[in-house]
Amino acid sequence: MKVAIPRERQEGEARVAATPDSVAKMVAKGLDVWIEAGAGDSAYFGDAAYREAGAKVAADESELYQGAGVVLKVSPPGDDEIAKLPEGVTLLSFMQLGRNPQLPEKLAAKRAVGIALELLPRISRAQSMDALSSQASLAGYKAVLLGADLLARVMPMQMTAAGTLVPAKVFVLGAGVAGLQSIATAKRLGAVVEAFDVRPAVKDEIESLGAKFVQLELEAAEGQGGYAAAQTEEYLARQREMLTTHIAASDMVITTASIPLGRAPTLITTAMAESMKPGSVIVDLAAETGGNCELTKPGEEIVHNGVTIVGFTNLAARMATHASQTYARNLFNLLELMVSEGELKLDFEDEIIRATCVTKDGEVLWKPRS
Ligand code: NAI
Repeated sequence: MKVAIPRERQEGEARVAATPDSVAKMVAKGLDVWIEAGAGDSAYFGDAAYREAGAKVAADESELYQGAGVVLKVSPPGDDEIAKLPEGVTLLSFMQLGRNPQLPEKLAAKRAVGIALELLPRISRAQSMDALSSQASLAGYKAVLLGADLLARVMPMQMTAAGTLVPAKVFVLGAGVAGLQSIATAKRLGAVVEAFDVRPAVKDEIESLGAKFVQLELEAAEGQGGYAAAQTEEYLARQREMLTTHIAASDMVITTASIPLGRAPTLITTAMAESMKPGSVIVDLAAETGGNCELTKPGEEIVHNGVTIVGFTNLAARMATHASQTYARNLFNLLELMVSEGELKLDFEDEIIRATCVTKDGEVLWKPRS
């Protein structure tokens, strides 16, 4: 079976869905792997390395897609890309369904089998395929580096002949995959770190990284299947009120609270951001889904009252080599579940296939969560 990996076309997308390493694994499984010329360039994987790993390099999309049974992608395909996909193809990709609710219909019109990476169930068997986690972990790391670069202060305590510089105070909101990596990175850089999450279960993890868990006397709604639940507006109002002093005392705030497939909750109002010292920084990792800070402008870095608010999206693409390496590994592990003796065999009895499949036989199977 022919597996095709196109060059990503979404603006700012530097990742690629296969690396020479994952190509070699696919070839060893009996797959006929094709990659579009230049697909790995922005992640620093050249055509020659793919060829050496056993892939064929296609000059353009029409050669790439000719007779392809599976397409591997990172970003959701745009309309132009969908138009070029072969009828009946199986597409493995992030679909960003919260922002692209029409995508399944468009794929169904192509009779494509759409497999959305963000719908993977959070079960231990799926951990090695969990692309949301692999990319979130990198984003959590990068958020701290971006924030540290913008701070007009040092992160660690420094004792110099000219006096002592106090360490920066970092507050991390949301201690999931990205947040825990932010905490670990800020600690490594010598900051004093506090963190809060609606899930009290993360207290031990936060403390084991050397950070302080901020405990609030609030009862949070519990999520299902490993995902966080959306909290009520009343809860969020109380949370903001109780966290105001912590925000005001912080030099850097990293927010990572997203609700899968929904809008990110507002954790920092304009007034709260204005209570921070000039020179402070907020890095909002939820910018892509509307932002945890009221002032966040997705894709931009702005300064409000001397506080810099970073709303860059797709931070993982800023580390395209490692992001592609982990994403490609996730995809290979998922694809392995679908391939037998070099041919595609989708077992819809399998929980992982069932949960991630958004379209099949011209029908849309995905329903937005209520
Ligand atoms: P996420 O990206 O959906 O959310 C980030 C964090 O924000 C979560 O920890 C969430 O509890 C928190 N949050 C939501 N609303 C908030 C609010 N109002 N204030 C403060 N924090 C808020 O979640 P992520 O990072 O993708 O995963 C969360 C957890 O799921 C992980 O820590 C892990 O325990 C579990 N998980 C399990 C997996 C598995 O078993 N295969 C794979 C990945 C994650």
